Amino acid sequence: MKRLLTLLLASALLFCACGRSTEIPQTTRPANTAANASAGTTGTGENASENDNAADTDAPRILVAYFAVAENSEVDAVSSASVLMDNGEAKGMSQYVAECIAEMTGGDLFSIRTETKYPGSYNPLADYAKREQDNDERPALITHIENLDDYDVIFVGYPIWWYTLPMALFSFFDEYDFTGKTIIPFDTHFGSGRGGTPDVIAELEPGATVEKNSFAVNQTKAADCWQDVADWLGELGY
Ligand SMILES: Cc1cc2nc3c(=O)[nH]c(=O)nc-3n(C[C@H](O)[C@H](O)[C@H](O)COP(=O)(O)O)c2cc1C
Repeated sequence: MKRLLTLLLASALLFCACGRSTEIPQTTRPANTAANASAGTTGTGENASENDNAADTDAPRILVAYFAVAENSEVDAVSSASVLMDNGEAKGMSQYVAECIAEMTGGDLFSIRTETKYPGSYNPLADYAKREQDNDERPALITHIENLDDYDVIFVGYPIWWYTLPMALFSFFDEYDFTGKTIIPFDTHFGSGRGGTPDVIAELEPGATVEKNSFAVNQTKAADCWQDVADWLGELGY
């Protein structure tokens, strides 16, 4: 069965490798958010920035952390189907969804970046990621959340890699103790859905409350995720 899944995934990755990036029509974005198309760049460095919702002292303080291979590789934005062109800026799927969530919740963005520069095209990337997983590696991270105490709720976003979290996410959860905080996972994928990742995160962070109703979107629908993200956030009370 696993062999069959691997074959299916290999075909899917081949499909991805032959695809082109998707241009996001700016009309798909709700009018009140269009001005903030690049909201993701605040707080993506060493320190996340001040919370937009900090003025409301009862509001949970939110961080939206994400891993995007497009920011950790030499991805060719034109040839890669895993890149969205947002107003001229190339973004990974998970980054784009992270930006939607940050914009809708007023959370700060934090980009998980690795020392490793991943291969920029699909097949070498798939092989590299598989080897990393088989060897249970923990790629070194070069961005760090310096002010974790400032946050109550951490949204954590990632692509599904080989049916689970990319190994960079294992490095991320090794680095931080989220005891007492709420972790809300979200992912982008090409058919695997959430791949059981909320349960994996719950095992890695036993002291945290991990939301099992995570958001999972197929990469083919990521460019159009605004309404689904809004509905999901509504279900969770945000
Ligand atoms: C190394 C690698 C492994 C992948 N493994 C899976 C998988 O197991 N299941 C799946 O549905 N999609 C898989 N995908 C597809 C990605 O999850 C999908 O393209 C995702 O939207 C990429 O998001 P990003 O642009 O943020 O990197 C894989 C992609 C890569 C590059």
